[in-house]
Amino acid sequence: MTQKQLIPCVQEQIKALSIYKPPWSAIDRTRFLRFDLNENTLPLPDCVKTALKGWIDADRIPLYPEYADFMPKLAQYVGTASEQLLVTNGSDQAIEVVLRSFLSKGDELLMAQPGFPMFSQIAGVIGAKIKGIPYTSDLRFPRQDFFAAVSSSTKLIVLVNPDNPTGVSISQEVIEEALRQRPELPVLVDEAYFEFTGATSLELLAQYPNLIILRTFSKAFALGGLRLGYIIAHPDLITEFTKVRGPFDVNTCAIAAAEAQLADPAASWRRFPQETMQVSKPYLEAFFKEHQVQYYPSAAHFLLVEPTDRDQAVTYLKEQGILVRPMLAPAIKTTFRMNVGTLAQTQQFTAAYADYLRQQ
Ligand SMILES: Cc1ncc(COP(=O)(O)O)c(C=O)c1O
Repeated sequence: MTQKQLIPCVQEQIKALSIYKPPWSAIDRTRFLRFDLNENTLPLPDCVKTALKGWIDADRIPLYPEYADFMPKLAQYVGTASEQLLVTNGSDQAIEVVLRSFLSKGDELLMAQPGFPMFSQIAGVIGAKIKGIPYTSDLRFPRQDFFAAVSSSTKLIVLVNPDNPTGVSISQEVIEEALRQRPELPVLVDEAYFEFTGATSLELLAQYPNLIILRTFSKAFALGGLRLGYIIAHPDLITEFTKVRGPFDVNTCAIAAAEAQLADPAASWRRFPQETMQVSKPYLEAFFKEHQVQYYPSAAHFLLVEPTDRDQAVTYLKEQGILVRPMLAPAIKTTFRMNVGTLAQTQQFTAAYADYLRQQ
């Protein structure tokens, strides 16, 4: 049987999907200033390098991974019990575990749009529908429309706080309203940028067992390439989620690296969220204001910029060795998303952007 003959057997909802395309292919991103994927732009800390080398030298790679030692350390960092946590292969897998646990073909997930694309990708694979409520035109959370859209078909509410790509944050009051509305309706709060915002719904967990929180080691902890995320939820829910994730889905190097980050007595990983939020982003915003560049304020270390000619600006920056991310969603298709880095890196961006503006 040829490949072609098998295609009709693939589920219709999967055939209808398109493949996720990263903004660039076949380029060596290490040679650029990476302001395109909301990554950590600092070099990997020495404590992580040492831990990974030690792991390899101790011949741990042939062994299947084991999470028991790591879970109490993660629990201490998060401030919960180990039983309330499940580690996943990036928080992308956390999204998949939660969606697969609650949604079947035809079920409805409610979330504001434009939102993080993995939600529609995974809902699409399941055959679930996303009821997308647009952010307001000035990019605020559409509170009224959102709650008016909750219906008996809603099987999962997703609140990305703050949202990627818009950077819009959601108040804890709104999150509590979602949790209170229907106690049997699960509410997933994506806190991928928690270390940058400091805002969390963790305190609501004791009162609302329908709350599920996602976090990641990809951003503040600089482990995007190793793929480590986690779910925080009621222990009973964690038991169910554990059945959806594979027993060894999180690789052993991710655990070794995360352990090293959490054990670092100086907690030097904090430098990146602190510098980006307290120094680099204010600096960038002041630059945009001074040069009358339209941008949308954001709660995290990235934001949307709206140049007069978006594609020209993105191409110019790339020629200067700086990657930013052109947005494709219709509501924001005249913008690019950029993260900030250290102050020096952000100044490299503003110098290039000032040159670009001078040439207009
Ligand atoms: C809001 C949000 N959730 C989840 C993720 C997935 O992160 P990861 O799979 O690297 O943990 C991202 C990544 O950019 C994100 O922005």
